[in-house]
Amino acid sequence: MNKNTIRTERASVLKPKPDSATLKFGTSFTDHMFLMNYTDGIGWHDPRIVPYGPITLEPSAMVFHYAQEVFEGLKAYRRADGGVQLFRPRDNIRRLNRSCARLCIPELDEEMALQGILELVRMEESWVPSAPQTSLYIRPFVIATDPAVGVHASHTYLFCIIACPVGSYYPQGINPVSIYVESDDVRAVKGGTGSAKTGGNYAASLRAGERAEQAGYSQVLWLDGVHRKYIEEVGAMNVLFKIDGEIVTPPLGGSILPGITRQSCLDLLRSWEMPVSERPLTVDELFEAAENGKLEEAWGSGTAAVISPIGELVWKDKKVVINGGKIGPTTQKLYDTLTGIQWGTVQDPFGWIINV
Ligand code: PLP
Ligand code: COI
Repeated sequence: MNKNTIRTERASVLKPKPDSATLKFGTSFTDHMFLMNYTDGIGWHDPRIVPYGPITLEPSAMVFHYAQEVFEGLKAYRRADGGVQLFRPRDNIRRLNRSCARLCIPELDEEMALQGILELVRMEESWVPSAPQTSLYIRPFVIATDPAVGVHASHTYLFCIIACPVGSYYPQGINPVSIYVESDDVRAVKGGTGSAKTGGNYAASLRAGERAEQAGYSQVLWLDGVHRKYIEEVGAMNVLFKIDGEIVTPPLGGSILPGITRQSCLDLLRSWEMPVSERPLTVDELFEAAENGKLEEAWGSGTAAVISPIGELVWKDKKVVINGGKIGPTTQKLYDTLTGIQWGTVQDPFGWIINV
């Protein structure tokens, strides 16, 4: 058998599916998963779809000690005609490979990774929900598996893809969220791993996230780690603001994740000939704009969160309410167009959709 042929082993017992009206984010997983191994001297090999279940690793496996791992998040959407489609999956695979390069993990063959995603979604087709705003979230990841505790790059890896039917990431759905500007902890600095999608970034973000949640906020807005004044991104989303008619979002300077939803927002806004600027934005400028009535809209963008309006921002003792705590017209138009393309009710002029 060719080392790139995907072998399939079907689960003998299938799980009951969760009720799609009450789906939570990321808690129930489908019947199968995709696996593929890497060994130095052989390369990536033995791609297979097997029943979803525990993975056996030695306690010394390197991922447990030095967090050499990367991951991705993308979705499969059920169209009204019953078909299933993916949104910009190649962009996720390319970003996964850039994350691999940062973490000294051997890159994947783009076609092989795409085949893995497509074959798994085809196998789990019946798990793609059809209730409004639901989808199948797909989580590819790579972990270092060498049983060795010396600090160096692993020689063996496991690539895995799991999938779970999901509803809204935030319990609020499309209703505006409250965000807390974090002034103590930092998430990333230039030269670090901020632009890679790797678990360590999220581990470092947990403390501030927990504090914000306990205080009643959905997530934190990160400031840059050096000057502690430039806006970076939110816990699981990039951020965009409409200030005095112009859409402003922080540039991709190496410390924030190059979001695919962020790029899609910029592509759509530019196609509508709206003024867009990717430029550094300080928290002072942002709050000053809000106090002068120039901060018209704010929203987060992400695969899990889609387009999430920000209704309230809190920084130290300052609090601003944006657009009366309601979703603004640009945010709404982006949400409608993007989700329309993703679920197949709006035509895709960009070539973002891949049919499963
Ligand atoms: N920033 C962070 C830290 C994220 O975890 C995510 C989610 O993937 C994003 C931004 C948005 O990226 P994307 O739009 O590619 O999902
Ligand atoms: C995503 O939007 O895909 C994310 O990865 C965000 C979060 C669930 C980590």
